[in-house]
Amino acid sequence: MAGARGEFSSRLGFILAASGSAVGLGNIWGFPTQAASNGGAIFLLVYLVLAFALAYPALMAELIIGRHAQANIVSALRQVSNNAASRFIGALTGFVGIITASLILAFYAIVAGWMIAFALAPASALLRADALASWLTGFSTERNLLFMLIFMLLTCLIISGGVRNGIEKWSSRLMPMLIFILLGLIAYVMMLPGAMEGLKVYLLPDFSRGIDLQLIVNALGQAFFSLSLGVGVMLIYGSYISKQENIVSLGLSITLIDIGIAVLAGLLIIPAMYVAQHNGVQIFDAAGNLIAEDTLIFTVLPALFDTMGGAGVVVGFAFFVLMTIAALTSSISMLEAPVSYVCEEHGLSRRVSSFLVSGIIAVISALIVFNFGDLFGLVINLTTRYAQPLLGLMLCIFAGWIWHRNQVLAEIKAGFEQAEQSLFWRIWPIYIRYVCPLAILTVFAQKVLG
Ligand code: PHE
Repeated sequence: MAGARGEFSSRLGFILAASGSAVGLGNIWGFPTQAASNGGAIFLLVYLVLAFALAYPALMAELIIGRHAQANIVSALRQVSNNAASRFIGALTGFVGIITASLILAFYAIVAGWMIAFALAPASALLRADALASWLTGFSTERNLLFMLIFMLLTCLIISGGVRNGIEKWSSRLMPMLIFILLGLIAYVMMLPGAMEGLKVYLLPDFSRGIDLQLIVNALGQAFFSLSLGVGVMLIYGSYISKQENIVSLGLSITLIDIGIAVLAGLLIIPAMYVAQHNGVQIFDAAGNLIAEDTLIFTVLPALFDTMGGAGVVVGFAFFVLMTIAALTSSISMLEAPVSYVCEEHGLSRRVSSFLVSGIIAVISALIVFNFGDLFGLVINLTTRYAQPLLGLMLCIFAGWIWHRNQVLAEIKAGFEQAEQSLFWRIWPIYIRYVCPLAILTVFAQKVLG
């Protein structure tokens, strides 16, 4: 049996762990490339509004439910329900959430494996092991499989250490490193010719593009993915926060850090693209759009590092280490969602649960590797475009409509006595009841219909 539940040792421990979950490939890769292909500063503006107005309230719903229930998402949603029907829907929602978190990890581990391989490539090139270097940067099935397994093993080992000795310990080590590398890279890239042009594209809004619905849909999806919402990850981290903590300000810190790092990553990636262009690398595709997604990370940026000579080896290494760290602090949170469920509901030890669940997810991941063309895009679409917003909607319904309002308030008041008179309590209940569900539904309907 899981015995006494884990708890983060301090406020800072929680902030590092939860922002570690939030800050991931979504911030350093997803956000800048979305911004680049959706009108730069306009996207940034819309993203900021949506992150505060919709994603932050939804994050609070997860944290509050989690801390109240002191349990995984399945049991937590059952606990806040008041009749048999809502208990059933709660458990079902929780279960779909856990499956979604596992599927997200299945594709995330493949991508993170690429980051490790690309981090090792410059070193093997230096050692004149050219065949190895080109194997590491080629997208063969064997390489994808091997590095996915390495990454899954790292994730599993951290999670099997538990809340304090696994999640908190490693997030506290890795997050400062991440910020340090990110700032160092930004400072370096900013000094290179071409960077200022990229900075302008990123920060000056191009109003000619306008704010269309697709841009809003993209920004909302990005905000939900980036804050790790809907899949029970923030809920389970919330369940490890001490009752004495002010949960409202903790949630705000996570949101601010997540947005801050995404914005910072934009200051790295977009100027780096223009530096690449200055060095003769092609950064626009045939249709005249900025090259985004995997081509950006695995073709444009490595081409840029190649043009930098000796410095390029160090910069390339630092960049892919940054990506690996960002991925790892997020992947542990994804694994914690199903592992906590198996520990708490089925009475297995944390160690056994961690290896069991990681094994199952690694098999799914291997299936994706072997059927890459058919499954990779499909799983990403299904989990991030459909499941995550719909699960987010369900969590808002549970926090806003099903769970009793007085109990919600009592939970917030546990670590924040003046909660009832706060601005938060004047706005959040309305948001979570009406604004968030309606907004998510609208965006979702557009997605399905359009
Ligand atoms: N927030 C992570 C990122 O930005 C991804 C994530 C999604 C993590 C869902 C946990 C759960 O990359």
